[in-house]
Amino acid sequence: MTVASLQVPVIAIDGPTASGKGTVAHRVAQALGWEVLDSGALYRLTALAVQQQGIDPNDENAVAQAAYGLDVKFQGERVLLSGVDVADQIRHESVGNLASKIAAYVPLRLALLERQRAFQQAPGLVADGRDMGTVVFPEAPLKIFLVADVQARAKRRCKQLKEKGFSANLDDLLEDMRSRDLRDRTRANAPLVAAADAKTVDSSNLSIDETVKVVLDFWSGVGFRAV
Ligand code: C5P
Repeated sequence: MTVASLQVPVIAIDGPTASGKGTVAHRVAQALGWEVLDSGALYRLTALAVQQQGIDPNDENAVAQAAYGLDVKFQGERVLLSGVDVADQIRHESVGNLASKIAAYVPLRLALLERQRAFQQAPGLVADGRDMGTVVFPEAPLKIFLVADVQARAKRRCKQLKEKGFSANLDDLLEDMRSRDLRDRTRANAPLVAAADAKTVDSSNLSIDETVKVVLDFWSGVGFRAV
């Protein structure tokens, strides 16, 4: 156990794509005055770097090297990759699909591990991803597994993409989402699975406000004290 893991609390929020994790994580972090880690963005940034640098996406070691070399800064809504804001670009479905494919690579997951743990800074961290509670922050005092049915998630993603000015087709998104879920859940390394001590929250019929409240109520019940 590291000193950080004992002193700086982490709320891990894991779940499938478009379950609302990102928004909920940001809102919970805002309410508590904590930092936030969007770990999916790191996989997406690696995918974008692979595309931009013409790296063979099947070459696991070359992809991991790209991750070690990422020059990333998160500044509010902005995500800077080598000084260029790519916040919208990394949300593109082609980047998300490549991220999901390369996320199965063991060398890549190792390459991103310490980068993710470095976000654990006082007064606390809300970490959003697939393996926050199982692999990256296994000592997190609160672990949430946020789910929503695939139809609800595809509709949300469709709306998000259209709002960002991208074209989107609900049937294509549903198909993409099903295959991405399957890949995330069945990969051998760090699959998408609830930690044994996670609280599962189904947000299919909850608003963002209601979901945030559920998480904050769980946190109040934890009674965390730094040692
Ligand atoms: O969460 P988001 O959809 O942005 O993540 C993009 C992809 O990165 C996911 O489909 C998943 O395969 C991968 N990912 C992961 N582990 C994480 C976060 C994301 O494997 N902690």
